[in-house]
Amino acid sequence: MKPNAGDGIFWEASQEGFVFEHLLQPGRIGKIRTKNRIRFAPQITNMCDPETGEVTEREINYLVEKAKGGAGIVTAQGGYVQPLGKGYPRQMAMDRDENIPGLRRLAKAIKDHGAVAMSQVMHVGRLAHPKYAGLDELPVGPTAMEPMIPRFEPCRELGREEIREIVRLHGDAARRGKEAGFECVDICGINGYFIHSFLCAWSNKRTDEYGGPVEKRARVLIEILEAVRDAVGADYPILLRLNATDLKNGGSPEEEYTRIALMCQEAGVDALSATVGMYESDFPAITSDIKPGQWLYLAENWKKAGVKVPIMMAYRMNRAEVAEKAIADGVIDFWEMMRPLMADPYIPQKLVEGRPEDIALCVACNYGCFVAAEASQACTMNPRFGKEGDESLLIKPAAEKRKIMVAGGGPAGMEAARVAALRGHDVTLYEKGDRLGGQLNLLATTPNWEEWADVAKYFMTQVRKAGVKVELGKEVTPELVQEERPDKVVVATGPIPDIPLVPGVKGKNVVTVFDVLAEKVPVGKRVAIWGGRHFAVYTADKLAAQGKEVILATDLPNWGRGISPTIIIGYKVRFRMIGINAMRDATLDSITDTGIVLIHKGEEKVFEVDTVVIATVQRDRELAEALGVGKDFIAGDCRAPRRVFSAVHEGYAAGLKA
Ligand SMILES: Cc1cc2nc3c(=O)[nH]c(=O)nc-3n(C[C@H](O)[C@H](O)[C@H](O)COP(=O)(O)OP(=O)(O)OC[C@H]3O[C@@H](n4cnc5c(N)ncnc54)[C@H](O)[C@@H]3O)c2cc1C
Ligand SMILES: Cc1cc2nc3c(=O)[nH]c(=O)nc-3n(C[C@H](O)[C@H](O)[C@H](O)COP(=O)(O)O)c2cc1C
Ligand code: SF4
Repeated sequence: MKPNAGDGIFWEASQEGFVFEHLLQPGRIGKIRTKNRIRFAPQITNMCDPETGEVTEREINYLVEKAKGGAGIVTAQGGYVQPLGKGYPRQMAMDRDENIPGLRRLAKAIKDHGAVAMSQVMHVGRLAHPKYAGLDELPVGPTAMEPMIPRFEPCRELGREEIREIVRLHGDAARRGKEAGFECVDICGINGYFIHSFLCAWSNKRTDEYGGPVEKRARVLIEILEAVRDAVGADYPILLRLNATDLKNGGSPEEEYTRIALMCQEAGVDALSATVGMYESDFPAITSDIKPGQWLYLAENWKKAGVKVPIMMAYRMNRAEVAEKAIADGVIDFWEMMRPLMADPYIPQKLVEGRPEDIALCVACNYGCFVAAEASQACTMNPRFGKEGDESLLIKPAAEKRKIMVAGGGPAGMEAARVAALRGHDVTLYEKGDRLGGQLNLLATTPNWEEWADVAKYFMTQVRKAGVKVELGKEVTPELVQEERPDKVVVATGPIPDIPLVPGVKGKNVVTVFDVLAEKVPVGKRVAIWGGRHFAVYTADKLAAQGKEVILATDLPNWGRGISPTIIIGYKVRFRMIGINAMRDATLDSITDTGIVLIHKGEEKVFEVDTVVIATVQRDRELAEALGVGKDFIAGDCRAPRRVFSAVHEGYAAGLKA
C-alpha cells in the first residue's frame, strides 16, 4: 500500500483485483443495521431557507444523491438547536416543532433511496453568527473571549442556567429528528463549537462546575448526552462527533479526549466519530500535506484505551484502500467522508461494482467547499454539485451522433471529450504533447500536490472507457480541422505565457514556469520568480525544496491569489521558515544578465540571481478565433487562466452542448 504515491493508486488497486470486503460489509450502530461501513458526514451546505432554516428541495436532492450513490448512512447537516447557535446563513433549523415536516421529507427521501437517515444536532456556540437568525446579540461560550479569526465576533460568558437551557435544547432538537423519521442522531462536539468549546482547555477558563479539570469541562457534554437520551429513548442510536485532538498550543491534550471518549461510552453513546482540529488550530487538518490516513492513530488510541462502540473517522480519508485497510486492521469501524463524497457521491456504488478507477478523487484543493459563509458551495470535481435536481445537467444520449474534435488534452479537454462520448458522439481528443493531463502533470510535480497525477489518471481512464479516440503528438490547426471536417470543435488548449515587456526579458537567463516545471530548462542556484498566483507559489515551493534560494515577486496586492485561505496559511508559514522572500505590490523594472530589478514600496531593489522564471500566463484565443468557435465550446484556461475547477466545469458544459 502506498498512500499518496501520486502514481495511480486506483489503477494499481483495480489491477490487483483489490476488493473492499470490509468497507462493504454490513455494520451496526446500536439497534440500526447499515448496508455498508460508509457514512456521509454532516455538511452545512448553505442550501436551506435563510429566514426559517427550513429544508429545501435543493437540500433534499443533494442528500438523496448521496443515498443513491450507495453510502450506508447519510447524515443531514448540523441543525441548529437555538437561533443563538446558528453559524451559517442558510443552515438547517431543528429548533422548532414547525421544522418537523421539512425534516420528515428529508429523512424519508434518504431512506427511500436505501440509506440510513441520521440527523445532527448542533450549536456552534462562540463561533455563531446570531445575526443570521435576526438576533442582535453576541455569541456565547464557556468564557468571554475575543475572536482569533476576524470573521467571528467576541463571545460572552454563559450563566449556569443558560448552559442548562442549551443542554435541554439539544434534547429537544434530537427528539424532533426522531419524530421526523431519522433513525439515529449525531451530536456535534467538534471544531470549537458549543460542546467542544467547553471540552477544550484553551477556550474554557471557567472555575465553576463546568470548568477546570477534564471531568468538569466534560460535564456539559455528559449532560447533553443524558438530555438527548431522555428525549429519544433507551434504544435510539446516538453518535457523538468528538474531537480527538485540538492541534492547538494551549488546547487539551489528546489523552484527555481519550478519557472523554471513555466517559461518553460509559454514558451510553452508541458510536463515536473521532474528529481533528478546530477553526483556531495552529495548522490545518485537511489540507493536501496531510497524507490519507494520517490521523487514524487517534482512533487507534481510543480503541487501545478500551473504546468498544464503533468508531468512525473522516479527515483526508479520501482513498478507499486506506479506509479498507483501517477497517480490516480494526482501527476504525466505519469510513466517514464529507469532501470525497462531495467530489463523487457514487464512491460506494463504484466500489460495489469493482471499479475504483472510476472514482473522481478529492485532492483537498479546498476550492469550492471552503467558501465564505454567505457564498454558495461548489466542487472542482463535481459540476453537478448542488444542482442534483437539474435534469439539464445529466449526461443523456444526444439526438444525433456527431463528429467532435477536442483540441487539448488537459482537464477541460478530457472532460469535454468524456461527456460528449458518453452522449454517443464520435469524439477524437487531440493533444499536441506526448501525454494527456495538461498542467495537471506539472502541478503534480510540486510538493504535496502529487495526487493531481491521480486526477489526471482518472480523466485518462474515463476518456478511454467512454470510447474517445486519442491522438497524441498532434496539434489541432485550422488545416487539420479543414481536413477532418468535424461537426463541432471544442477548444481547450490551455493558457500561454504572458511575457512582460521589460528590458532583458529575452535574455538566456529568463525561462517560463511551464518549462521549469517540465524540467526542460536548467535552473540556477539563485532564482527569482515573477508571478503571484498558484503556479508561481507552488513553483517557488518546489524550487526551494530542491535547495535553491528563491525570491517570489508579484504586482498583485497579495501573493497566492486564488489559493484557498485554508491552504495559503501553510505556505506563508513555510515560506517564512525556509526563507523564501515573497513580495507583493512590486513592479518588474528590468532583467539583467545577473539579476532582476524590482520597484518595491517606491524603492528600486536589485537582486542577484542566476535564473528568472516568468510565472504569469494569459488566455489563448488564437485557435478558437481562427475557427470561429463560440464561447460555449471554449473551455478552461484558454478562455481565461484560472483553475482545474473552471476547466472541469466548462469542459463538462461543452460536452453536454456538443
Ligand atoms: C504549478 C501549477 C500549479 C497550479 N495550481 C493549481 C491549483 O492549486 N488549483 C487549481 O485548481 N489549479 C491549479 N493550476 C492550474 C490548473 O492546472 C489549470 O487551470 C488547468 O490545468 C487548466 O486546464 P485546461 O485543460 O484548460 O488547460 P491545460 O491543463 O493547460 O491543458 C491544455 C492542453 O492543451 C494542449 N494543447 C495546446 N494547444 C493545442 C493544440 N492546438 N492542439 C492540441 N493540443 C493542444 C496542451 O499541450 C495542454 O496539454 C496550477 C497549474 C500549475 C502549472
Ligand atoms: C463546508 C463544510 C461544512 C461542514 N459542516 C459540518 C457539519 O454540519 N457538522 C459537522 O459535524 N461537521 C461539518 N463539517 C466537517 C466535515 O463533516 C468533515 O468532518 C470534514 O470536512 C473532514 O472530513 P473530509 O476530509 O472527509 O472532508 C463541515 C466541513 C465543511 C468543509
Ligand atoms: S472542491 Fe476540491 S477539496 Fe472541495 S470537495 Fe471538491 S475536490 Fe474536494
